[in-house]
Amino acid sequence: MLLGVNIDHIATLRNARGGVEPDVEKAAHICEQNGAASVTTHLREDRRHIKDEDVYTLINSINTKLNLEMAMAEDIRQIAAEIKPYSICLVPEKRQEVTTEGGLDVAGQTERVKEFIKPLLDKGIIVSLFIDPDEKQVLASAETGAQFIELHTGSYAESFGYKEEEEEFLKLKTSAMLAQKSGLKVNAGHGLNYENVHRMHEIPDLVELNIGHSIISRAVFVGLPSAVKEMADLIK
Ligand code: PXP
Repeated sequence: MLLGVNIDHIATLRNARGGVEPDVEKAAHICEQNGAASVTTHLREDRRHIKDEDVYTLINSINTKLNLEMAMAEDIRQIAAEIKPYSICLVPEKRQEVTTEGGLDVAGQTERVKEFIKPLLDKGIIVSLFIDPDEKQVLASAETGAQFIELHTGSYAESFGYKEEEEEFLKLKTSAMLAQKSGLKVNAGHGLNYENVHRMHEIPDLVELNIGHSIISRAVFVGLPSAVKEMADLIK
């Protein structure tokens, strides 16, 4: 399993003062040098953390893979088509939410998703759909032409250590296996931390875990290189 580090929170901290510190590009390099196989940024419609300049800088400077999280917004699709990241991950987006709250409803808008991602697939960009671990979302995703899904691990993470954990974990495992049977590759992420990440090893053939909040939080105490390295070692 590979680690993708989400560096949005570095930009959040930078924007708190409106200056250049901490440097997002430098953070991306530290992640790569300490075991990240990819760097993820979410260009939100309100640009609350990552800005357009960040993605234009990162695409020319990172040595691994840039994964661009984005909503189904035309202006952001144009940016993606222009910079051609290694992959994009389509997420739902509500302006008021603190973070991405649920998976994309692919089942309820399969044709729209298919049409939205087609120009990106045509440019050779890998497309992943961030969905809840739900059978109908998985099957709909397989109809769109996307090569990957990213399973939303938020409910598993929240239930970790409680009686609901097993049920939430099983949803992830059965969804991953169904997706793989349907020809999709499977990533996972959201809410994963140093305590709950180990169960991802019980899900066969997960490709990559995308983790942000817990790594950047740990970095406050131990530094970004150690925080990334510790997580990379846990999921290797
Ligand atoms: N994957 C997706 C699609 C996300 O939207 C996020 C949050 O930005 C993450 C992974 C990372 O979640 P967390 O910050 O909770 O690790």
